[in-house]
Amino acid sequence: RRARRSLKRCAAAQRNHAMYEHLLLETKGQIAILKINNPKSLNALNIATMTELNECLTNIEANKDIRVVILTGEGSKAFVAGADIAEMAKLTAAEGRTMSLLGKTTFRRIETMPQVVIAAVNGYALGGGCELAMSCDIRVAADSAVFAQPECGLGIIPGFGGRLVGKGRAKELIFTCDRIDAQEAYRIGLVNKVVPQAELMDACMTMAEKLLSKSSYAISMAKACIETGMDTDLSSGLDLE
Ligand code: CAA
Repeated sequence: RRARRSLKRCAAAQRNHAMYEHLLLETKGQIAILKINNPKSLNALNIATMTELNECLTNIEANKDIRVVILTGEGSKAFVAGADIAEMAKLTAAEGRTMSLLGKTTFRRIETMPQVVIAAVNGYALGGGCELAMSCDIRVAADSAVFAQPECGLGIIPGFGGRLVGKGRAKELIFTCDRIDAQEAYRIGLVNKVVPQAELMDACMTMAEKLLSKSSYAISMAKACIETGMDTDLSSGLDLE
């Protein structure tokens, strides 16, 4: 009986912790906690990580048992420090284009999937990492989080479709490459909430549980209307509503 119990526990653990090389996925009821897991490179997004992320999100999108995703970075230093610069530097132009399209497809999936995705920004959110946070529906930042779009300092431009703070502020952030702290990110509307680092995951779980108490169908329809409505003319947006 003990062996059978242990096998059952093992199967449950496997169901709740899907195996990826660059991601950690854990489910708690209807909430999935998804971590980018490359802490040695401050969770930089290489092509393999983005491929896994796209695959994992595709699976979550089709899983009606998951209603909220909390996306974060492994470790206490970084959410995601951007695209993997070392890998990117070696790409040909065609490979660079493919990588950029992979990023856009993956980030767009977050914007359009029916589940709510909360970014738990636990440290550096730079370049593609800042854009990844922007693609999420809601951003909760640790007070230690740092945001920037450093691409112009590297001779490239941000390439994953980020858009949130309006043209004027976006141009300032992109052209100057300035780093901003969590409070400044809150002030300009880049994050919804700032909490002490130690309380970040609890704050995100509390928010996720609040969302679970609402109609998931209504939330997914509202998300679709907001996402599509922002990209269309007023009367088409109103028709959609
Ligand atoms: N790509 C690859 N490796 C990275 C990385 C990145 N974006 N960011 C950090 N790392 C690696 C470092 O190379 C270092 O590796 P080693 O230990 O092997 O040397 C490790 O992570 C730890 O980093 P640091 O020693 O630099 O840590 P630090 O505390 O001194 O500095 C940091 C932290 C300020 C975030 C600094 O690492 C940094 O500036 N990183 C680059 C950030 C950046 O420019 N991001 C934008 C990338 S471009 C992009 O994202 C394009 C796009 O949208 C398409």
